[in-house]
Order: sequence, then C-alpha cells, then structure tokens
Amino acid sequence: MRRSVITGTGSYLPERILTNEELATFVDTSDEWIRTRTGIRQRHVAAENELTSDLAAHAAEKALESAELAPGDVDAVLVATTTPDYTFPATACVVQEKLGVPAGAMAFDLQAVCSGFIYGLTVADSLIRSGQVRRVLLIGAETLTRLLDWQDRTTCVLFGDGAGAVVLEAGEGEGTVADRGVLHTVSRADGRYRELLHTDGGPSSTGTVGHIRMQGREVFRHAVTNIADAMREVMQAAGVSARDIDLFVPHQANVRILDATARKLGIPPEKVMLTIAEHGNTSAASIPLALDAAVKQGRAKPGDLLLLEAMGGGFTWGAALLRL
Ligand code: UT7
Repeated sequence: MRRSVITGTGSYLPERILTNEELATFVDTSDEWIRTRTGIRQRHVAAENELTSDLAAHAAEKALESAELAPGDVDAVLVATTTPDYTFPATACVVQEKLGVPAGAMAFDLQAVCSGFIYGLTVADSLIRSGQVRRVLLIGAETLTRLLDWQDRTTCVLFGDGAGAVVLEAGEGEGTVADRGVLHTVSRADGRYRELLHTDGGPSSTGTVGHIRMQGREVFRHAVTNIADAMREVMQAAGVSARDIDLFVPHQANVRILDATARKLGIPPEKVMLTIAEHGNTSAASIPLALDAAVKQGRAKPGDLLLLEAMGGGFTWGAALLRL
C-alpha cells in the first residue's frame, strides 16, 4: 500500500522577537495575564521587507536539506497560509521560483486558517496515494502580525509570524498501523461559526485585508470539543488508543486548550509538544514548527507514532495520525 512518509522537516522564525513585557509598553496588558491565560512569553515579527514567501522558502530549504533532496526532486509545492504575499499569484508559486523548483511542478495555496497544515496533510497524502505525485513540499507559513489590530488587546497578544515545512515522499507499507507515513487524517468545517473568528476585510468584500476579530471564550469552548472529537476519530480509524501515541504535536493556540484536550484524551503531559511560549499562535505554521522542534530535540524519532490536531477560523478543524 502506498504511504506518504515525512522524510524531512524544517522551520524558520523571523529574527525580531517581541516579548510580553515589550508588548505591555504599548498595549493595555501584562506579561502575567498573557502567560497565565495563554502560555505565550514572546512572538516573532517579520521584518518590514520580509514576506510570507521568504519565511516559507527558508523553512522549505531546511526541510529539503534534512530530507537530502534538491529542489529539482519536488513534484508539488503546497503552502498553507492565511497571509499570502499577494491576493494572487499563490504564495506557493513565489516559493517555487525562490527555491528553484522546476517549471511544471504543481504549486498552490491552501486556506484553512489555523487548520491549514492538517488540511494540507490530507491533500498531500491524497495526491501521493493516488499516484499523481511522488514528493510534496508542504509548508505552513504566516505573517499573521500583519492582520493584527494593535489596539485590540484580546487578539494582538496571541499571534506571531513563522514558517514550518515537511517533505512527504511516496513509500510502500503493509497497510497496517506499523507502516511509516500518514495513517489517517480528518479535516472538518462548520461555516455557521465563521463570525466567531474572522477578519473584517477581504479582496471581494472591502478591498482591504482586514483585522483579526475573535470571540475568544466561544472559540475556546468549541476548540476543546472539536479537537477531542477529531483526535478520537483518527485513533479509532487506525485502531490505536491514546496509550500508543508517542508524541502529541498540536496546533499551538493556547496552552490551556492543549492541557484540557490532552487530559480529556488521557495523554500525559510529558507526551505533549509545547512551543507556544516561544512564538505564540502562528496559525498554519504552528504544527510544522512544533514538529521540527520535536525532531531536533530528539523527542520525535523515526518510527514514533504522532498525533496532530488543529482548530481555527471557519470553523475548520482536524487531526492526523502518522508514523515518522
Ligand atoms: O488558533 C485559532 C483558535 N484560537 C483559539 O483557540 C483561541 C481560543 N481562545 C483563547 O485562547 C482564550 O479565550 C483567550 C486567550 C483569547 C482569552 O482568554 P479567556 O480566559 O477566555 O479570557 P476572556 O476573553 O474571558 O477575558 C477575561 C478578562 C476580560 O476582562 P473582564 O471582562 O473579566 O474584566 C478581558 O477584558 O481578561 C481581559 N483581557 C485582557 N486583560 C489583559 C482580555 N485580553 C486581555 C489582555 N490583557 N491581553
């Protein structure tokens, strides 16, 4: 059975760090509030001339390096992002050109907000298993600080910029849970809740990019339920239980959401990968950033069973089970 195996990971965070303390000098907030309510200590902010495609290309270069592949080996570039360089062309096409991925490769963006990386895994896995492509560069990249209203303390303290990437390659498995590769994914949406987390602008509505608006408490409530349901669904489909999971690599939105979800599923704290303190909520970039950190720290090793999840605007949410 054909499987999509992660053979390389990479990440990139912009140089400029904005700490909670510095933020509190121009926003009515405090380091104490941000840390205890969210787990965030700092976020990275892209330089003025740094675009989402730059962050994406840096992360992708490192992922290719770790997979020991050259840009010419890539059949498809997928960029999960809510903050593209331009309305069009797709940031993936800009990244293709920046990396030197040859003409003729597939390249497109995927917009599922914070769930973009999970949606991307679903799409990349389908493309590989259907035999259309053999090697996919899947990138989550965001310059989310460009969508922030710095007067709105309920949102501006939460988000940051960054990028993470993985290389997925076609491999052969037995069709069992022992296989390396993506074992199961679920990607879900419910547009009835779109007002709870959205931007108040867009190309077709206002002609502007708008700012992030969120009813945090409501989103929090839905997040815990939806994420837990999606995680149970992927584990059930693959016939594994929470005890079998080697590492939980969640979307980094709020440490309290992650604690509540892990507790609900019976995943012990030492199996939860947490990077939110370093970079805040980086939307589609957060799972591949956490995954790359886990690989680098030796917390995720070849053969390990990983459980990923995300929830975001739309609402969109999902989970993925994979063996490294
Ligand atoms: O990645 C996409 C998915 N997004 C999420 O999953 C985010 C989900 N939501 C959350 O993470 C949390 O709801 C927040 C972190 C956004 C907010 O935490 P909360 O515990 O739900 O706080 P709250 O909104 O209920 O606000 C509590 C208090 C309020 O004051 P009063 O009304 O109790 O007097 C807020 O005005 O905290 C106040 N507050 C702040 N105080 C200092 C809100 N933001 C701030 C702030 N600094 N930045």
